[in-house]
Amino acid sequence: MQSNARKRELILAVETSCDETSAAVVENGTTILSNVISSQIETHKKFGGVVPEIASRKHVETITRILEEAVREAGVELRDVGAVAVTQGPGLVGSLLVGVIAAKSLAYALGVPLIGVHHIAGHIYANALVQPLEYPLTALVVSGGHTELVQVEREGAFRIIGRTRDDAVGEAYDKVARAMGLPYPGGPHVDKLAQQADEEIELPRAWLEEDSYDFSFSGIKSAVLAQVNQAKMKGDVVNKAGLSLGFQRSAIDVLVTKAMRAVREHGSRQLLLCGGVAANQGLRKALAEACGQAGVPLAVPPLSLCTDNAAMIAAAGYLKWKRGEYAALDMKAEPLFSLEDWSVSEG
Ligand code: KG4
Ligand code: ZN
Repeated sequence: MQSNARKRELILAVETSCDETSAAVVENGTTILSNVISSQIETHKKFGGVVPEIASRKHVETITRILEEAVREAGVELRDVGAVAVTQGPGLVGSLLVGVIAAKSLAYALGVPLIGVHHIAGHIYANALVQPLEYPLTALVVSGGHTELVQVEREGAFRIIGRTRDDAVGEAYDKVARAMGLPYPGGPHVDKLAQQADEEIELPRAWLEEDSYDFSFSGIKSAVLAQVNQAKMKGDVVNKAGLSLGFQRSAIDVLVTKAMRAVREHGSRQLLLCGGVAANQGLRKALAEACGQAGVPLAVPPLSLCTDNAAMIAAAGYLKWKRGEYAALDMKAEPLFSLEDWSVSEG
């Protein structure tokens, strides 16, 4: 007999694509009942970046406890769960595998559908956990592994109109921070220093071709590294705050200008900001100002939903669940997964 709770449309979701082990229970794709996140940052800090082999071992150690906690915190029973969603890719293959295997086992044992989710679709649909989305919309995805402008004409249909040609913006933040001797992950430290700066060391902007929505951050990253090296060679003190502000302004100027052009040219009714770098105060402020001027609503998830978490995977997984688009139990982890191919079927 089916319990009433089963009819509640509960998704149990798992996210292990990088260095966060997370499990969540979400109702109707919008209401978070639990969202448990265990970060490995302390482990990777001493290496100055994520070590894939260590990351997957940590996921193995943590996943069962996190899953149990997510179900307990949600106040539901495992038998109430109607579907299991998991990040299928992109990400570190060894890390993805841990989540995929856990999710498959659960879906099989519970006799419920398995849903493979694209990680970036998750970042975008994190916004659906906060407010209803209106289409067409443009999403600016900024994280440690991605910098993309995604046009979403209708629910679950993704078209990438711009992407980074080299470093992701978060990756550039982390490299710049490392060169200045700041701890990993460096983005929040550079953000903080930029806010404290009383002078800006101006850096160039990488606009690329006039009509391009693509990005490039390796040039400004190299410009910062050159400044740091020069100062060191001369025995000068590195002006970390001034460089942080210069780097941040250069990156933000290009991100905001291109995002606003995309909104204008596509007639978008909303701009969504998502991914770990969406935590950046300078970027939030600049986008809010630009959107205010253009009269376009800006949606930014709260900080806890900007970085990797399983609730966002449930929110995106719900799009497929509604349409009966399930994965087979032989689903593979896809380290280089295409967002456009993951789009839901039309109609
Ligand atoms: O989305 P996320 O948690 O993981 C990936 O999927 O990559 O993003 C992590 C990235 C890191 O590069 C981190 O330095 C950056 O987001 N980040 C920030 C800030 N907070 C996190 N970058 C700039 N300013 C911040 N406040
Ligand atoms: Zn992410």
